[in-house]
Amino acid sequence: MSTQAAQPKKIILTGDRPTGKLHLGHYVGSLRQRVALQDSGEFEEIYIMIADAQALTDNFDNPEKVRRNIIEVALDYLSVGIDPAKTHIFVQSQVPELFEMTAYYMNLVTVARVQRNPTVKSEIAMRGFNNDIPCGFFTYPISQASDITAFKATTVPVGEDQLPMLEQTREIVRSFNRTYNTDVLVMPEALIPTDKASLRLPGTDGNAKMSKSLGNCIYLSDTPQDVAKKVKGAYTDPTHIHLEDPGKVEGNVVFTYLDAFCRDEHFAEYWPEYANLEELKAHYMRGGLGDVKCKKFLTKVLEETLAPIRARRAEYEKDIPAVYDILREGCAAARATAGATLHEMKDAMRINYFDDAELVAQQAAEYGKE
Ligand code: TRP
Repeated sequence: MSTQAAQPKKIILTGDRPTGKLHLGHYVGSLRQRVALQDSGEFEEIYIMIADAQALTDNFDNPEKVRRNIIEVALDYLSVGIDPAKTHIFVQSQVPELFEMTAYYMNLVTVARVQRNPTVKSEIAMRGFNNDIPCGFFTYPISQASDITAFKATTVPVGEDQLPMLEQTREIVRSFNRTYNTDVLVMPEALIPTDKASLRLPGTDGNAKMSKSLGNCIYLSDTPQDVAKKVKGAYTDPTHIHLEDPGKVEGNVVFTYLDAFCRDEHFAEYWPEYANLEELKAHYMRGGLGDVKCKKFLTKVLEETLAPIRARRAEYEKDIPAVYDILREGCAAARATAGATLHEMKDAMRINYFDDAELVAQQAAEYGKE
């Protein structure tokens, strides 16, 4: 028998809240990387979770919104190329084991620690909760640790805003394993995009983030007409008024999107006057290049990504019951895995009373003596 500890298998867990359709920000920030990871063949198991229970922590009074968006997010996943033959897609609320784990993790985290979480802090401010923070919302980073650890995920591909959640999860893993003298829980790593353009895609209005409430998103399910219209109205450089004026590319949404999506082949195909983005930028900065031309090019570049996504979506939309079957199967797989981890956790915590023949025998002997 080998005494060497087995290398942990590489496992992915990630997810999104179903509060709206997914947009280009999700795509460059995480979805496109997830598909590449899925297709790399490096991972033993891949789980993608529709985080409806987490969505309810700040939408508890609007379950209809969450309910409607389960299918939207599922269709978005499938349409970008998440393949149910390789990846389990599941719905958080249908895996009750996760909530049991959360109850035990709550003991390992202080209120002060949750209060320090920068993402939670800014969300509290953004939602105007003031002193009326729902406990469920406040503690969602702890529940997110369950999502990740239940699957023994080694790798969590997420947007940059999720780094504090990963840090909290890692602390819980350390604390659990130390407290219960075990190695049941696996230490996860976040995986965020490495190029600057993909870290955070601005909204079409130039706002730092695409956000549904700001109305500045290009959705994966937008029609070609919608996309063209949104690009036409996108924020560029307000000081670039006349054609001959020099233009700025920093903070110019058109160029930020090109940074994230454009490849040299796109120039060869649609705009052979330039060899690459550097040449186009140089011309824009020196003056003599209008926004309209750049926007037309950007629309074509975006369509290279969006057209196949739209086509795949249309196929899945034809058979919605089949999409629900994919989710149902994903949930069954997720429950099996989470259940096995929970079992090991309860063994480590010594709260496995009915499975522990030794405990029963020992106590029987003790009481028998008297
Ligand atoms: N917090 C994530 C979001 O807002 C969703 C999420 C829930 C998640 N549980 C997760 C992401 C576990 C990665 C891993 O989009």
